[in-house]
Amino acid sequence: MTERVTIFEVGPRDGLQSLGLQVPTETKVALIEALSRTGLTKIEATSFVSPRWVPQMADAAEVMAQITRIPAVCYSALTPNLRGMEGAIAARCDEVAIFASASEGFSRANLNCSIEESFERFTPIMERAREVGIPVRGYLSAVIACPYDGGVAPQTVTRWTAKLLEIGCYEVSLGDTIGAGTVETLDAMLDVLLDECPTDKLAGHFHDTHGNARELVATALERGLRTFDASVAGLGGCPYAPGSRGNIDTRLVMEVLEAQGFSHGVDRDALVQAEQIAQGIVG
Ligand code: HMG
Ligand code: MG
Repeated sequence: MTERVTIFEVGPRDGLQSLGLQVPTETKVALIEALSRTGLTKIEATSFVSPRWVPQMADAAEVMAQITRIPAVCYSALTPNLRGMEGAIAARCDEVAIFASASEGFSRANLNCSIEESFERFTPIMERAREVGIPVRGYLSAVIACPYDGGVAPQTVTRWTAKLLEIGCYEVSLGDTIGAGTVETLDAMLDVLLDECPTDKLAGHFHDTHGNARELVATALERGLRTFDASVAGLGGCPYAPGSRGNIDTRLVMEVLEAQGFSHGVDRDALVQAEQIAQGIVG
């Protein structure tokens, strides 16, 4: 039996959020439905954030209402505050994600508050999640470097990752938001982080800015991580991280996993339809 690795598809959210054009709701729905037919079990469908901040995600409720769901798939959404959480509950999201930053500069740019303040906002979200029984994933951005503050110390990453787990996130996705990582800096960060946090509570979230995300996934796999975020056709970027490029392509993650002898459960042929929709969106 080959060991299974989870691919967490974030294309419909991370991939589409920073596009200059407004993607029609029906196209987003078609993309999510095509992804649902590939064998992926985790799909981040949208985010319940301020439409003033991220206009592309303004139709979060409509997207969730219109998709035909497959029971084996967990449909997730980002929630920055209690208002977003209530939206996600009303829209019957299976799971939500809170997102913090390991650097103050990115926290301000992305959430308009300090890191400490962002955690104050998470408290009512976590309470509400416990009440309604929805799992919460945590994201930590800028785990290697911040577009505003520069390099981020592994000890800082460890502190905030541990805190996200302590407040009840079932897993923390480590975001190399601007794709600054190298095998060396990723290894150095994991050297410190893995002393404190277990690998089965961590996921890798790489942006392929310098074309080395494949090596980063391979490195994280070697260090024991078994969940990787990916974006269909490499869609993406972050609106508050200048220079950030798309997430690592879902197909590339599949290739790395296969080369290292892991299984992932995603059907290559079925993925083509989702890729065509994604390519149609970006032209
Ligand atoms: P703020 O301006 O400080 O807060 O934003 P506010 O409470 O003054 O709200 C501003 C406006 O938004 C108000 O509307 C609110 O009502 C409304 P107005 O009165 O001006 O008309 N509002 C909302 N509307 C809908 N849903 C909500 C909501 N909340 C407020 N939930 C806030 C603070 C957190 C809201 C804002 O900064 C925000 O929405 N930020 C989200 C930014 C974002 O989505 N970034 C991308 C996702 S993170 C990412 O990509 C990184 C990741 O991929 C990992 C990695 O790569 O590192 C996860
Ligand atoms: Mg991202």
